[in-house]
Amino acid sequence: MKSDGRALIYMGNDGVSQNLLETLQLNDWHVKQTSNIDEAKQTMREHKLHVGLIELTCQHTESYLSQIQEMLQQYFQMEWIALVHSETGLNSSLKHIIAESFSDFHTLPVDPGHLLANVGHAYGMAKMKWDTVNIPDETDGLEQEMVGSSQQIQNLFANIRKVAGVSAPVLITGESGTGKELTAHAIHERSKCANGPFITVNCGAIPHSLIQSELFGYEKGAFTGANHKKLGHFEAAHKGSIFLDEVGDLPLDQQINLLRFLQEGTIQRVGGNEQIPVDVRIIAATHINLEQAVKTGKMREDLYYRLNVLQLCTPPLRKRPGDIELLAHYFFKKFSHEKNKTVKGFSSACLAVMRDYAWEGNVRELVNRIRHAMVMCENRLISAEDLGIDESSHHFHFMSLKEAKDRAEREAILNALARMHNNVTLTAKTLKVSRVTLYRLIEKHRININD
Ligand SMILES: Nc1ncnc2c1ncn2[C@@H]1O[C@H](COP(=O)(O)OP(=O)(O)OP(=O)(O)O)[C@@H](O)[C@H]1O
Ligand SMILES: [Mg+2]
Repeated sequence: MKSDGRALIYMGNDGVSQNLLETLQLNDWHVKQTSNIDEAKQTMREHKLHVGLIELTCQHTESYLSQIQEMLQQYFQMEWIALVHSETGLNSSLKHIIAESFSDFHTLPVDPGHLLANVGHAYGMAKMKWDTVNIPDETDGLEQEMVGSSQQIQNLFANIRKVAGVSAPVLITGESGTGKELTAHAIHERSKCANGPFITVNCGAIPHSLIQSELFGYEKGAFTGANHKKLGHFEAAHKGSIFLDEVGDLPLDQQINLLRFLQEGTIQRVGGNEQIPVDVRIIAATHINLEQAVKTGKMREDLYYRLNVLQLCTPPLRKRPGDIELLAHYFFKKFSHEKNKTVKGFSSACLAVMRDYAWEGNVRELVNRIRHAMVMCENRLISAEDLGIDESSHHFHFMSLKEAKDRAEREAILNALARMHNNVTLTAKTLKVSRVTLYRLIEKHRININD
């Protein structure tokens, strides 16, 4: 992303703008002019901008206005100023949007001195936001939806870009609420089948008896009640992607059909005998350890290897505490239309508590607590109490060095055991400790190697 010094974007009517833009340019502003939302987004992806000026008129449709609002939420680190033709002529949707999403407004024709002072101030505010929320510079669109500047999330972004370019299956692993579904979407959106459908199937939520017909469809007369032919999710996803969420929940007897598709690229509808070719990109996700599921006989080994061609892992929040503040600001802006009007942000004590809180539910928990607090908070700044976090609870404590070491030790052992299929001799070798030491540590950390 290019940085152009004091830069602003102007979106509006050419005729209105000429004098205004010249004044700004004469006063050392780099001005990007655009006439539509897509172009504006493209410009903001490529340039680091501080202020946005948008001309709003009563002729704008509700859908255009909601797209504007969405764009402003995406680019929350900028300051937005509305330009309107007459304050008295504003309809209620316009008033609502200006009050909620813009930091100021001017009535056209603007007083140049007043506007310059205003954009100067907005620049200062935006610069502060850019500096404090630490938004990564190399954003290319993907990060609009997935936020994070930590090394872990940047690695994930880089891997998303890499796997999006090939058509092999992708397996996304990660704890609950870490962004597996978001990652699947991001892969699809950057793949060559981005214009095709994206179909999500929650493998654990379909009743056992319906799985086959839901996934592969059925022919008329296949069973009582099958009065007409029905396409399954695979056929619906033709030329697009199918996201098999919680693929580890797929019953063993149904796994063979998925395996067949992965081997042959064809499906067979229930009650039919034709092999129908389907062109679908498979993206699967799981929060359980599939290697373990293979060991315990809950997952076919051949299916596991077919699914696990490219693996991505969504990191838990505790491994990237530096992202918490960024996410908090992002969600605050994203849900600002729902908030209590008096609420302006988070107290610094609250941000500190957030960084140290054990987010068991990861990003989903963070989003839910913030949305709740934004509605319930009666003060200007959200406190830890508004988030429902008790500062003195067991969740909130600074980790001692010993605790941090213990946690790292446990994790290293768990990882090595998983890689070595719980073989203690090999795990001990990998960790460069004796078998006796490893057994002692397994006991110390209460690790169950028979799972
Ligand atoms: N990096 C991120 N930036 C912005 N929002 C995020 C990020 N990661 C997760 N979220 C948000 O957190 C919530 C949970 O994300 P998602 O559903 O993708 O997680 P998941 O891993 O599929 O969860 P589960 O295991 O419970 O199905 C969503 O509201 C999503 O938008
Ligand atoms: Mg999910």
